[in-house]
Amino acid sequence: MLSEHKDRGRWNTKLGFVLAAAGSAVGLGNIWGFPTQVADNGGASFILIYIICCLAVGLPVMIAEFAIGRHTRRNPVGAFKKLGNGWFPPLIGIWGVICGVMILTFYMVIAGWTFSYIFEELFYFTGLTALSEWFGDLQNGVKNAIFTILFMTGTVAIINGGVSNGIERATKTMMPILILVLIIMIGYVMTLEGSSEGLKMYLLPDFSLVDTGLVFSALGQAFFSLSLGMGALLTYGSYLKRNQNIVESATYVTVADMSIAFLAGLLIIPAMFVAQSAGITIMGEDGRLFSSATLVFDVLPDMFKAMGGMFGLIFGMAFFILLSMAALTSTISLLEVPVSYIIDEHKIARKKASLIVGSIVVTVSLVISFNIDLIDVFATIFNNVGLPLGGLMLSIFLAYFWKTENAVAELRHGYSDVDNGKFPLIWGVFIKYICPVLIALVLITTLYNLIF
Ligand code: PHE
Repeated sequence: MLSEHKDRGRWNTKLGFVLAAAGSAVGLGNIWGFPTQVADNGGASFILIYIICCLAVGLPVMIAEFAIGRHTRRNPVGAFKKLGNGWFPPLIGIWGVICGVMILTFYMVIAGWTFSYIFEELFYFTGLTALSEWFGDLQNGVKNAIFTILFMTGTVAIINGGVSNGIERATKTMMPILILVLIIMIGYVMTLEGSSEGLKMYLLPDFSLVDTGLVFSALGQAFFSLSLGMGALLTYGSYLKRNQNIVESATYVTVADMSIAFLAGLLIIPAMFVAQSAGITIMGEDGRLFSSATLVFDVLPDMFKAMGGMFGLIFGMAFFILLSMAALTSTISLLEVPVSYIIDEHKIARKKASLIVGSIVVTVSLVISFNIDLIDVFATIFNNVGLPLGGLMLSIFLAYFWKTENAVAELRHGYSDVDNGKFPLIWGVFIKYICPVLIALVLITTLYNLIF
């Protein structure tokens, strides 16, 4: 049996763990993915279906990831290897590590954009237009490469600090700031002309638009946004103490992630319509809102510019600082998966492990920096197919190989009355039947649409 490496860490506090996991979940998926999906799919009806997907599929799978992680105290590959024999169990972990590395390669480039836009705004408002344009050019490979490397350096630095001194400390500082900035920005946008039209689009449901396609996009979005299917939360769970209530923590993380996605929509969709009243085009000829990249990196900066002066400067910079922080707390968790794998399985020290994986990821990111069309290709393979596939294998493994009774026994630590009430029964039904069937349907539909 593998011995526990000294570089394996532990969370310091219960809240620290919840914030770190929420930090992983809250990312670009919430702040630019969710609002555009809502806008594309008819507003409030999408929100409702999204909430159901998070609670009915996301939450049970998250509990499963935390339980497997804490029970085995291993990275995803070691965890599944410890719980089952044969080729299937480690494959789930290996798939997770691959998805982690590959998602990170393009996520880093987008994170680099959010970071460079802080300077784009700063230089615009201080009158240095040429510099502002350089920082705002998404196609500029050299600039993309520089910011990707900077972002990776920041991520590696935090990972090097270890679990409690690095990840926990960084996320504990960033998450409250992120929520505060978001709320202040929403408050201000609500006072601007045009915002009420956006609010209407965001909050009034149009159920005629609900079809199976919409349900499946909501489920895919929930998976990505909750960081499920690749073992990121399994890895975070492996640093948990036995006295923490996993079911309660997972519920907090899910609710926090949904709430921040909701708040992000409350900012972005009204802001789009504010931009429209300022004469900025927000929709294509087909009547659909622009894609998320255009919205975030064209329309919103234009809106900040239309605000002008001090407000434009402050809000412009604050928005991209917010996005960068959200991205950073997610890149940390994406990198932690392969790093923990190398620490556990190859007995390499944390700093060296993060340097090795960081360099490999950055090499691929550099290629993407110069060929940004690759982002879509990678996202389709690893977000839309990779994560549901991982989640499907994970729930099948838990329900039919490791067995829910064993998982429930793990959940009993820190939640002694797990058996009072119907928890084991209800969670069992979800993880055995509802989650695998729904995830498989999403996967099949996605593959079908890709092929035909
Ligand atoms: N949940 C993150 C987001 O919303 C992305 C992510 C996916 C992070 C998978 C870790 C694992 O942006």
